[in-house]
Amino acid sequence: MIVVSGIQPTGKPHLGNYLGAIRNYVKLQDEAAAQDGKCLIFLADLHAISMPHEPQDLHASTLEMVATLVACGLDPAKTVLFNQAQVPAHAELQWLLMGTARMGWLNRMTQWKDKAGKNREGQSVALFSYPVLQAADVLLYQATHVPVGEDQKQHLELARDIAQKFNNDFASEEAPVFTQPEPYIPKAAARIMSLRDGSRKMSKSEPSDMSRINLSDTADEMAQKVKKAKTDPEPLPSEMAGLEGRAEALNLITIFAALAETTPDAVLAEYGGQGFGHFKPVLAEKLVEVLGPIRTRFVELKEDREALDAILARGASQARELGRPTLDSAYRALGLVRN
Ligand code: TRP
Repeated sequence: MIVVSGIQPTGKPHLGNYLGAIRNYVKLQDEAAAQDGKCLIFLADLHAISMPHEPQDLHASTLEMVATLVACGLDPAKTVLFNQAQVPAHAELQWLLMGTARMGWLNRMTQWKDKAGKNREGQSVALFSYPVLQAADVLLYQATHVPVGEDQKQHLELARDIAQKFNNDFASEEAPVFTQPEPYIPKAAARIMSLRDGSRKMSKSEPSDMSRINLSDTADEMAQKVKKAKTDPEPLPSEMAGLEGRAEALNLITIFAALAETTPDAVLAEYGGQGFGHFKPVLAEKLVEVLGPIRTRFVELKEDREALDAILARGASQARELGRPTLDSAYRALGLVRN
């Protein structure tokens, strides 16, 4: 089991990142360790330059995300934690894969279409070839399990196509250069929506800070945001069917269930019949119970620049080691000689 995943270092980490991705990394880190496998989690800082960005903010956001990951329970002694920029093999392998990836494949990527909109001609080449770098990220380590959200599944399929074509074109069946990675989408992956609009994902790009719970929020801020969260005047139903057409109510139930590691049905069985005046304080309390200790560790670690640099330096050196054999085989398979 080789777990590999990347996370963009942009903006403030929030509850959606924690319940949707980070908590899942922590579980996989322990599973991989139990089977003598490996877990590599990196900050996708090379990907971050595919869109307009502020150079002076990039490293600070990277460090903030490292602090978050560690505060949430990723253990640098168990997980190889690093940023792409310190492991040149990611960029190198991307270039080696550029000869295999097809324009048509990239043109079909929905994330490209969404981000480019009507202005494809004006986009950076990096935005277009973003999925090839993502393929390099996982193929470099012979990843078997790639924890991602639904929205990244298509990129993973592309990585599989690239691996297959490269193996076909440049390697033998007995000695493939790359392993086919599998997307790993946890069954209970919680899709957390905005507190102001239950039809939109909780997101760091949403202008209103009231729409999300940041992992750095104080207990009071969390309670305020829950109190002001959009709801409806109806009491909670006692079954899921009763939440149809009530996106905001559904979201608060989903959040509670995810935090309590139970099912929405179980939450409704307990709180059905109650109004939000009752339920919101209970939810706020749960949030503080789960996120409070994370926040404390985060605030402390964020200030410890030396510790963060050391974590990344160590992770990068391990990643460089782990990626070397595959990078070497890829160069060799293509007939590129490096003496
Ligand atoms: N594109 C991913 C996202 O936006 C981040 C990412 C970069 C990634 N490289 C990866 C995820 C490799 C999984 C594997 O969420």
